[in-house]
Order: sequence, then C-alpha cells, then structure tokens
Amino acid sequence: MKIVVIGGSGLIGSKLVPKLREHGHEAVAASPNSGVNTVTGEGLAEVLKGASVVVDVSNAPAWEDAAVMSFFETSTRNLLNHEAAAGVKHHVALSVVGTDRLSGSGYFRAKIVQEKLIKNGTIPYTIVQATQFFEFLKQLADISFDGKKVRLPDALFQPMAADDVASAVGRVAVGQPLNGTVEIGGPETFRIDELVRRRLAPLNDSREVIADPNVLYSGAKLDERTLVPGKDARLGATSFEPWLTQSAGKATAAGTR
Ligand SMILES: NC(=O)c1ccc[n+]([C@@H]2O[C@H](COP(=O)([O-])OP(=O)(O)OC[C@H]3O[C@@H](n4cnc5c(N)ncnc54)[C@H](OP(=O)(O)O)[C@@H]3O)[C@@H](O)[C@H]2O)c1
Repeated sequence: MKIVVIGGSGLIGSKLVPKLREHGHEAVAASPNSGVNTVTGEGLAEVLKGASVVVDVSNAPAWEDAAVMSFFETSTRNLLNHEAAAGVKHHVALSVVGTDRLSGSGYFRAKIVQEKLIKNGTIPYTIVQATQFFEFLKQLADISFDGKKVRLPDALFQPMAADDVASAVGRVAVGQPLNGTVEIGGPETFRIDELVRRRLAPLNDSREVIADPNVLYSGAKLDERTLVPGKDARLGATSFEPWLTQSAGKATAAGTR
C-alpha cells in the first residue's frame, strides 16, 4: 500500500516511515525538504498519485496564534482537496489529547480547526490524539523558563515515547478508517513539574522547576486532568525511566552530553 507521510522528516514522521516500510508498505516521506509543501500545494498532486493513505504528522514552523492557525487551516484544506482528487481512502492525523479542552491556546485553536476540517471533509479519517512526547520535556522546560525559574502548570499528564507514538500511528494507518478519534498515551501519570525536573537532572540543567497554579499551558488554563487521556486510551509500552536511561546512552554515544 502506498502511504504518504506528510511531515515525514519530523520527530514522529522519521520514526514512522521506516516502521511502515518494515511492514512491506511503500511509505513516502513528504515535507518541504523533499519538495512537498502542504501550505503552497507544491508537489502535492505528484506525491499523492496512487496513494491509499495519507498520514499527517506535520507541525507548524511558527507558533504565534495567527501563524499556527494559518498553517493548520491552509495545510489541511490543501491536503484534503488533493486527497479527494487522488482518490485517497484514509486520512490519518496526529493531534493532541485534550485539544477540545484547550481552546484558550492559539496553538490548540489551530488544532481544533484542523480536526474540524477533517471531520467535516469527505475523506474517511482517523484522528490520533497523543499525549506529550518524552522528547518534548526539555523544550517544555525551555519555553516555560522566565529567566529565573521553570514555571509549569500544577497538573497531571501522561507523556509517552515518540517511538510508541509512531508505532501507534502506524497501526492506525494500516487499519480501517474509524471516522473518529483514538487517544494514545504513556503507561504512567506524573505531575508535570516532577517529570520535567527528572528530565533536566541528567542533563545537568540546574534550573529550578516549580509548579505554579497561575501558569498557563500554551496559553490555556489547565485543570488537574486536562492533559490526561480517557480510560480507553491505547497505552505505549515505554516507561519514563527506561526511556531516560536509553536516551542518555544515545546522547553519550553521539557526544552530545
Ligand atoms: N510535541 C508533543 O509533545 C506533541 C504531543 C502530541 C501531538 N503532537 C503533534 O504531533 C505532530 C508532529 O509533531 P513533531 O514534533 O513530530 O513535528 P516536528 O518534529 O516539528 O516536524 C514537523 C514536520 O512538519 C513538516 N512541515 C513543516 N512545514 C510543512 C509544510 N508546509 N508542508 C509539509 N510539511 C511541513 C516538517 O518538514 P521539514 O523538515 O521539511 O521542515 C517536519 O517534517 C504535530 O501536529 C503536533 O501537534 C505533538
């Protein structure tokens, strides 16, 4: 089966493409670096020729409210129109657990629009809502640093390894469209500040990490469980500590630590 992975060069896309190929599929990584741009439409008609499935794991290059809205709206419209013309039978998109509860955030308002366009479109679809990636924790600390402290919402989350995200998205991509949403998450629930502290320690990053009840998440107010998936979520196998040990090993081998 020909499966086009939009955002195939990204964190999730670059793990997903080889997994699909291992299972005998013709997986094509598509992104601006390979001449496919979902915003301008460049290269879309060509890459979608003969494709049965499109998996959208792209992300906006800029996260200001207007830029991110313009990206997800234009990109999703272009993709769905080109998919209809090419006879694509399943559109799979990666979104975020709790997106519908996060409308205080410009980023999540754009994800809500992305999801709505897919749901109201003509292409059979499955939306996969994932929790935060372990790989995102360091970036979360950086964007939550006010110059003195890393201030994080006082709430729970259930993050997961990017590798498990890619495996779950791959299984959805080769299955039947659900015309609905599935949630995926990690096997453990943590307080956000606790886990970010544990992520920074082996990086010798000594910034103080605190839970601040007044801090917003990407501009949105969180309740205790806004980011936590429901009981039917499909859970990844990788726990945090083994992931941390493995990523420290990789970083040492690559000379980045
Ligand atoms: N971060 C988290 O914790 C988290 C949690 C749940 C869900 N998600 C969702 O996961 C998705 C993927 O995130 P990620 O971190 O894997 O993304 P990423 O590593 O930032 O990769 C983004 C990808 O999008 C591509 N892209 C950018 N502009 C494009 C365009 N105009 N046309 C086509 N492709 C374009 C990039 O291509 P180039 O390399 O060519 O620029 C790259 O392949 C996002 O939709 C995000 O909402 C994230």
